[in-house]
Amino acid sequence: MLITIPNILDKQRLDFINQTLSKAKFIDGTLSAGMAAKRVKNNEELAADDQQMQQLNNLVMGSLVQHDEFKAAAIPFRVAAPYYARYSKGMTYGDHVDDPIMGTAGQQYRSDVSTTVFLNEPDEYEGGELVITTSFGEQKIKLTAGSAVVYPSSSLHHVAEVTKGTRLVAVTWSQSMIRDPAKRELLYQLNQARESLLKNRPDEFETKQIDISYVNLFRMWSEL
Ligand code: NI
Repeated sequence: MLITIPNILDKQRLDFINQTLSKAKFIDGTLSAGMAAKRVKNNEELAADDQQMQQLNNLVMGSLVQHDEFKAAAIPFRVAAPYYARYSKGMTYGDHVDDPIMGTAGQQYRSDVSTTVFLNEPDEYEGGELVITTSFGEQKIKLTAGSAVVYPSSSLHHVAEVTKGTRLVAVTWSQSMIRDPAKRELLYQLNQARESLLKNRPDEFETKQIDISYVNLFRMWSEL
């Protein structure tokens, strides 16, 4: 399942983030890449001081992890601190799947769900689409500033070459309480029906049955 979530970051937060990024130092992105990714990765990553990084993370993560749609889609157990990536003209990130285990020793987590938050507007650069291979073919994603795409980390994906301007994104990974993407999608859909029923028909027999099924299916499938 691939879902897009509009306006995770409001204008004020975006302005602050972009001001910070415009003054910050970026370094070669291959320094943080695994062996396979090194061959296809050509971008830059933020190398900010701890205080700047903390401020950025508070804004981006604070908005993301509290967003109901993100919580429903990712069902996150752990959410990692994001990377901030910059692609200028000629930069790209070729086909790859994200590393299965992220984080430093003692703080490791499994990447089940990948999230990209777009930080600048699509008309500020040409190219730079996030292209994700799904069972229904390739999806090309290029969203407005402050919006996010959430997709299974097991999906093959790449970032198309930026041919003009600069693309800025925050990228993060979550370990989900529901490891299997197909099960996660079923729970996401069932929960939509459940929430609608609880709101509109709280006293009906069917509402109670759907609610019980959802909760117990969640219990059956979850792992912490
Ligand atoms: Ni990736």
